[in-house]
Amino acid sequence: MSQQKECPKQRLWSEEFSVRSGESSFVERRQFTRFLTLTSFAMFAGQLWLVAKNLLSRRQAAFPALVVNGADGLAVGSAKVFQYPTPQDNCLLVRVGEQKFVAYSQKCTHLSCAVLYSAKHNRLECPCHEGYFSIEDGRVLQGPPPRPLPRVELERRGSELVAIGMTTGEES
Ligand code: FES
Repeated sequence: MSQQKECPKQRLWSEEFSVRSGESSFVERRQFTRFLTLTSFAMFAGQLWLVAKNLLSRRQAAFPALVVNGADGLAVGSAKVFQYPTPQDNCLLVRVGEQKFVAYSQKCTHLSCAVLYSAKHNRLECPCHEGYFSIEDGRVLQGPPPRPLPRVELERRGSELVAIGMTTGEES
């Protein structure tokens, strides 16, 4: 007997949407399901795109082989700057033994200050915020740097020392 009066807004909605009001809840559910499906599909497609992009960029990141000039003239316990893999990327070569060299990117992983070799402490030191890195593997010993220093892979080819690639400390 007591019929509820529909408010004008509902009536307008019902007129524009050609479904009986009794079935409107199913339509909303259907629309919601469609929305969820489309959103999930979009997220899935986005993830696939990110994975493909990542794989592609890894494949493109092939490093050149570059001779590190002046390596043999370096005294044990001293370091020199060289550029690798591009002329804009400064790296530090350290001669840690008669036949042993290590090399790292000179760019601190905190705020990109240039790290220096400390023969006294046998470690790489960032003068900006006292970030210290191990000479063994570039891992952070102290300070704010969030990641190890990227390491330059070196290879002895006859009399030449050749830089052949780079690894982040997290990869090794
Ligand atoms: S920039 Fe190297 S520790 Fe901050």
